[in-house]
Amino acid sequence: MSDRPAAPDHDGEQAARPLATFDALLTPTGADLLAAAAAAHADGTELRAGSRLRAAGHPPDLVAAAFAQAELRARAAAKFSQAERMFFTRAGLEQASSERAAAHRAARFAGLGRLADLCTGIGGDLLALAAEHPVLAVDRDPLHLRMAVHNAHALRGGGREGGSGGVEALAADVRDVSLTGVDGVFVDPARRGGERRMSAGAGEPPLAWCFGLTEWVEAVAVKAAPGLPVELVPPGWEIEFVADRRGLKESVLFSPALATASRRATVLLGPGDRSVPGTTGPRVVTLTGEPDPVGDDRDHGRPGGGHSGGGGPVPLPVRPPGEYLFDPNPAVTRAGLVGTLGRLVGGWQIDPRIAFLGADRPLATPFARTLRVEAEMAFDVRRVAAAVREAGIGALDVRRRGLAGDVDAIRRRLMPARRHLVPGGRTMTVVMTRVRDEPWALLCTDVTQADRADQADRADAADRAGWADPPDRAAGARGGPARD
Ligand SMILES: C[S@@+](CC[C@H](N)C(=O)[O-])C[C@H]1O[C@@H](n2cnc3c(N)ncnc32)[C@H](O)[C@@H]1O
Repeated sequence: MSDRPAAPDHDGEQAARPLATFDALLTPTGADLLAAAAAAHADGTELRAGSRLRAAGHPPDLVAAAFAQAELRARAAAKFSQAERMFFTRAGLEQASSERAAAHRAARFAGLGRLADLCTGIGGDLLALAAEHPVLAVDRDPLHLRMAVHNAHALRGGGREGGSGGVEALAADVRDVSLTGVDGVFVDPARRGGERRMSAGAGEPPLAWCFGLTEWVEAVAVKAAPGLPVELVPPGWEIEFVADRRGLKESVLFSPALATASRRATVLLGPGDRSVPGTTGPRVVTLTGEPDPVGDDRDHGRPGGGHSGGGGPVPLPVRPPGEYLFDPNPAVTRAGLVGTLGRLVGGWQIDPRIAFLGADRPLATPFARTLRVEAEMAFDVRRVAAAVREAGIGALDVRRRGLAGDVDAIRRRLMPARRHLVPGGRTMTVVMTRVRDEPWALLCTDVTQADRADQADRADAADRAGWADPPDRAAGARGGPARD
């Protein structure tokens, strides 16, 4: 239909006949070429290896396609643990869900039968969905669909029924597909038109069409950009913001049949993260709650107020910065859950419109970076630079929230001359923000295990003196959020 954008071709990234080239890569000769390209990519000898392979009679476009896969597989290792066995296009990899994000969200479909993965791409989500469900995979780009089926088959055996029997693939426009016999739908609209990235609320197919899928199937999840304006969330739907460590990656909207909260902030933790006690492997933590009221400072997140009256959350107090500062994860800020986090860690707002939280205890939380405040002052570059120099540090970091200014330029001005740096010394973070609506600088260092132990001792002493927080509050704050 003329109002629908055309399916992409892959000229320039795959070869003139992408499907034929893909088929050729799947042959034993193709596998040899892929192995040679991977080895050459690893040791930086692509040019020489390419000449050798072409001189040996391999078609130049096939050699080029093998080298393109080697490069994409190396990049894809950040998202997929077995990237070396998968196939990608450049656009498909860029838009693919990571293995961990996909597995986290696939769990929301637990208990349902057959699913539809609409806009399958190269199969980032399909891999996780097909691990537990029979799946109808639909994409109008035949190359993406072929790669997705291959990837699911190579990594998962194609689904729980073995072989590729668990995945039924359909090369079609998702708007032309019957959802009869489907219990749940996951849809991940394209967010790029050719080389251009679409704005945060745009997608192909459009979000409004995706939300309308509930007319046919109750359980619907829609992946969208992390910058999606929350006003676009339909009533009764949940929105989840997902960050990989501190990098905000995506938002996902769940229809009322799948929703379990109004807002959710999810953090995929790094393997070394010690903020949650327990095993040291990679984990996922998630925080849910009612959103903070929207203020006039949305880009910085307006923390804490909660709802006034009506039995809603108690508003956070506003106080000057304390001994510690929590810098919430971007997923928490975007989800409007800074107030929820503040109540969890016993913190307060340092300004009514800024998403940094003050606290007098360095509680470990996976939802924020915790800093110890060493000094604070009105923000004046020269004064702050002098204080940083006197502190005798090894490295400098600058965080800005609620103030204008080029962070890199300010960091250069605050950085002590090399002769004043202490080799191997501690890192100082200068937090530029607003306090009492004034530009303010907080000179901070990372919280150490010793700080936490010291705090625990002080809390014990306080308990003995009989003025500590009631145990239920302290336990709640330490117990932290649900994990999955
Ligand atoms: C964001 S990617 C999907 C990524 C996928 N979830 C993954 O993790 O690999 C979007 C895909 O939607 C497909 N697409 C866009 N509009 C479509 C439509 N109307 N019908 C079918 N597929 C469509 C594109 O070809 C592209 O492969």
